[in-house]
Amino acid sequence: MLHLHSGLRLLILLFLLAAIVKSLAGWLGKKPFKKADNIIAIILVSLTHTQFLVGVVVYAMSDMVKAGLANMGETMKNAPLRFWAVEHAVIMLLVVVLITIGRAKSKKAATDELKHKKGAIFYIIALILILWAGVIKPFALGRGWF
Ligand code: HEM
Ligand code: HEM
Repeated sequence: MLHLHSGLRLLILLFLLAAIVKSLAGWLGKKPFKKADNIIAIILVSLTHTQFLVGVVVYAMSDMVKAGLANMGETMKNAPLRFWAVEHAVIMLLVVVLITIGRAKSKKAATDELKHKKGAIFYIIALILILWAGVIKPFALGRGWF
């Protein structure tokens, strides 16, 4: 389950980067919002929602989280335990919400320029949060790519 969770992250990063590059190019270059933009966004949302479900399962199964939740007073003073029991899940939940809202706002926007712009802004904030709480921090805590 943890391997699936970690691997899905790479797919999410791939589609998130593609969505950002295309929406920035579309917004700044005033290009139409094409079928490919739509498909990338739908795949991105699907991967992100699946990751949320997998994350909840991993959270429920994790010994690290179990240990963390058993004594929250101590957990708050222990950086790795605090990260996995609290910070990662909270920040990633925010990421899932940002990507979902970004897509919904992009979908509802009246013009193609606005569709690209709404997506670009929400996806860039989501990328920064994922890079911190889903890549840099896990690596700093000894986790790998997969
Ligand atoms: C607990 C599980 C899930 C919850 C609570 C959830 C919630 C949501 C919400 C709130 C939206 C936004 C609706 C809107 O645009 O107003 C949405 C859209 C969507 N979700 Fe999920 N979702 C879940 C699981 C999944 C899974 C497992 C998949 C796919 C494998 C998925 C794929 C999608 C897609 C494709 C969209 C629409 C994207 C679009 O606007 O084109 N979701 N979901
Ligand atoms: C876009 C969303 C997410 C990304 C990119 C992401 C990424 C990651 C990565 C890279 C790891 C380390 C995996 C490894 O050691 O191989 C991890 C672990 C973990 N994730 Fe997530 N995650 C996301 C969402 C979530 C959510 C929503 C939850 C909980 C509700 C969650 C709970 C956990 C837990 C509990 C662990 C560590 C478990 C353990 O080692 O015992 N994740 N995540």
